[in-house]
Amino acid sequence: MLIISPSALAADFSRLGEEFAKVERAGAQYIHLDVMDGMFVPNISFGPPMIESLRKCSSMVFDVHLMIMDPIRYIDVFRQAGADLITFHYESCDDPSAVIRAIKESGAKVAMSVKPATPPEAVYPFLNDLDMVLVMTVEPGFGGQKLIPEMIAKVRALRTYAEDNGIQIDIQVDGGVTGENLGMLTEAGANVIVAGSAIFRAENPEQVIETMRKEAELHPFVR
Ligand code: DX5
Ligand code: ZN
Repeated sequence: MLIISPSALAADFSRLGEEFAKVERAGAQYIHLDVMDGMFVPNISFGPPMIESLRKCSSMVFDVHLMIMDPIRYIDVFRQAGADLITFHYESCDDPSAVIRAIKESGAKVAMSVKPATPPEAVYPFLNDLDMVLVMTVEPGFGGQKLIPEMIAKVRALRTYAEDNGIQIDIQVDGGVTGENLGMLTEAGANVIVAGSAIFRAENPEQVIETMRKEAELHPFVR
């Protein structure tokens, strides 16, 4: 089943509790929390204290996307704040295996993300140790950008490699995803969908999520 993870970055920060409740009612299973440090990406968002207070008002899976340098320093803090799934960037550290281990030891599920310029082959050696891989479909840092169409081939390469090697893994896409382009992504093998503007800025988020689920059903993975 398609997993929908609305990105809180596009929500109204003055009423996050209500915004979370709104997308949870609309059928989202995850909530995507973009943590930015102004170093790994040229933007600053929010950190552990905010996640910790939101944890009390939501039972969605907290999908924490760390866009920070040297993420190993903060794994336990984010886990304690309430992260269920922690995603770090391949490009943000010297030793991805050590970060994977630290996330697993914290008790959270683990995902690794790649920026648009990083080839899918970079992920292959780690695939067996991950619960999920996140293919960035825009340059990380800001919501509201347009999806880079070349990333669809990266998703397909990863899904094909995983299937060929008997690896069960979630493939998440993040950036510029809408009800209109989602079919191309699920057809390429994505099954976890991050959408910020498309969901939070919609008049009827429930309808958007419904359209996304229908599109995914119409466009299952094809090699
Ligand atoms: C970008 C973030 C995304 C962003 C997606 O760096 O990782 O999660 O919020 O927003 P939309 O769906 O608006 O492109
Ligand atoms: Zn994100």
